[in-house]
Amino acid sequence: MGLLDGKVAVVTGAGGGIGREHALALSGAGAAVVVNDLGGSRDGTGTGQNMADSVVEEIRAAGGTAVANYDNVATVAGGQGILKSALDAFGQADVLVNNAGILRDKTFAKMEEPEWDAVVAVHLKGTYCVTRPIFLHMRESGRGGSIINTSSTSGLEGNFGQTNYGAAKAGIAGFTRCLAIEGQKYGVRVNAIAPVALTRMTEDLPLAKNEAFQERMSPKHIAPLIVYLASDLAKDVTKKIFFVGGGQISEMRMVRTPGVTKKEGLWTPDEIAGQIGEILA
Ligand code: NAI
Repeated sequence: MGLLDGKVAVVTGAGGGIGREHALALSGAGAAVVVNDLGGSRDGTGTGQNMADSVVEEIRAAGGTAVANYDNVATVAGGQGILKSALDAFGQADVLVNNAGILRDKTFAKMEEPEWDAVVAVHLKGTYCVTRPIFLHMRESGRGGSIINTSSTSGLEGNFGQTNYGAAKAGIAGFTRCLAIEGQKYGVRVNAIAPVALTRMTEDLPLAKNEAFQERMSPKHIAPLIVYLASDLAKDVTKKIFFVGGGQISEMRMVRTPGVTKKEGLWTPDEIAGQIGEILA
C-alpha cells in the first residue's frame, strides 16, 4: 500500500530539477501524476514537450501512472488546461504542487519592466492561475486536497539581485497563508516550501562543482516533505512554510516582536528613536 494510493497529484514545472523529483516521489508513493512543464530555458524563453515527456516516460518505466501537460502556468487558460489534463486522465485532482519557475536576476538599478513582469508572471500569477481551478475542483468535489506552493529564502530573507523573484516568492508566502484560512472549511490544506537544491537554477553557485555538495544538495532531498504534505499524515498541517534542503527541514515563521506600546497619544519620532532598541528586540 502506498501512502498516496488513489490520489491524483499535479506538479507544475515537473520536467526537471526539483519538480521532477516531486513527480517521481509522488508516483513512488502511489499517486497518479500530471507532469506539467512548458519546456523552456532557465529564463523562461522557449517551449518544448521533451522535458515533461521524459519524466512521464521515467514514471511509466518504473511502473507508475502519469500524463504530460505542456501548458504555461502564467495564464488562466494554462491553469484550466492543467486541471483538464487531470480530469481527462484520472477524473480528479487531490494534490497540487506549484513548482514551475524561472529566473531573470538583475540588480534593482538594472531591473527593467520585462524582467520584473516575466518573473512575477510565472511565479506569483502562475500560482494563482493554476491554483484557482484546482482549488474550486477540490472544494466542489467535497474531497478537499493538499496544495503545496514554492516560496524561497530569497523572498523571505532577501537575496542580492532578486527583487523581482524575491517579491514574487514572498507574495507566494502571503498567498499561502491567506488561502490556507479560506481552504480550512473545505478540507483544503495549503502549505509552502522554501527549498534549496542544486538544479539548473542554482548551477552558477561556486559550490555547484563540488561532488560532496552535489549529493548533499540534490533535489531528491526535497521530495519526501512533498509526499508527507500531500498525504493524510499531514492532515492537521496547513498554513505552514517549510525550509527544506540538504537534509534539513525547518519551519520559516513571520515574527512580530513584543514591541512597545504607548498608552496615550501619538508617538513622536524622537520617542521612537529613544525606544528603537526595545521595538526591534
Ligand atoms: P528548474 O529550472 O530546474 O525547474 C523549473 C521548471 O519550471 C523547469 O522545468 C521549467 O521548464 C518549468 N517552467 C518554467 N516556466 C514555466 C511555465 N510558465 N509553465 C510551466 N512550466 C514552467 O529549477 P528548480 O531549481 O527545480 O526550481 C523549482 C522551483 O523551486 C522554482 O519555483 C524555484 O523558484 C524554486 N526554488 C528553487 C531553489 C533552488 O535552490 N533550486 C531555491 C528556492 C526556490
